Amino acid sequence: MPEREEKLAASLTGTTPEIIPYLPYLLQDLWYLGSSPADMAELIRTYTDLGTDAEVLDLACGKGAPAVELASAFHFSVKGIDLMEAFIEEARQAAEDAGVSHLCTFVHGDAEEEVRREVPHDLVLFGAAGDVLGDRAAMLKKLSNVMKPGGWLIIDDVYSEPGASEGLPKREWERLMQEHGLSLVAEKLVDEASLQRELQEQLTRISRRAEELSQQEPEKRPLFEEYVASQRAEGEALEHEWTGVTMLLKKR
Ligand SMILES: C[S@@+](CC[C@H](N)C(=O)[O-])C[C@H]1O[C@@H](n2cnc3c(N)ncnc32)[C@H](O)[C@@H]1O
Repeated sequence: MPEREEKLAASLTGTTPEIIPYLPYLLQDLWYLGSSPADMAELIRTYTDLGTDAEVLDLACGKGAPAVELASAFHFSVKGIDLMEAFIEEARQAAEDAGVSHLCTFVHGDAEEEVRREVPHDLVLFGAAGDVLGDRAAMLKKLSNVMKPGGWLIIDDVYSEPGASEGLPKREWERLMQEHGLSLVAEKLVDEASLQRELQEQLTRISRRAEELSQQEPEKRPLFEEYVASQRAEGEALEHEWTGVTMLLKKR
């Protein structure tokens, strides 16, 4: 359980589980929590023949941005799962506001438990959720278990640049995919300039909320400042050590 809490905090760039109760407040101004639904939609439109009857699973769905936007664009039925209850409530409201609540089911739960059920889907989304399902090899194995043969997977993650302290280079990703019966069909690399602009805006919003919390709970100021610092460090790693990528994979 403590490991799950640590991974939960880390998936939202926290360095300690102590930050978890404050995350809904700190991230209240953000709707996109890492992945790009527009890039996902472009890959689906260009490379797949998924129809309106497609069953989609969004693991670690956050506030539901990918689920809601793909349900709106393609009329897919999407089930989203996330461990943050407040995010699930926001996702339900967002689906309602977008007029797709009949297509979206959002569940408060653990992605690990969902993959253990091994119910196969036409399309699985795993957006910006890092180590939530273990290292990249374990993650690909678990994701493959919830895909139909010939089914699709979209992962939003990073390719590491030479010399990076963390992450996998593209050739290592491809080796792992091969091992798990998956092929990389297409990818969309992030546009560095617009990503940096977006991250800067997010950092400004998060910093403002962190300052509000620090004023309400002065003894916790170091915790909130550390959170802002880790957000800034992630932005720097994305600039220098990693390339953000949305990958489309097919199961053989
Ligand atoms: C960076 S966010 C990405 C959210 C979403 N996929 C998106 O791109 O907007 C990572 C998400 O993983 C969720 N998470 C972390 N551990 C989880 C777990 N064990 N089960 C389900 N969700 C989890 C967090 O609550 C958070 O919403």
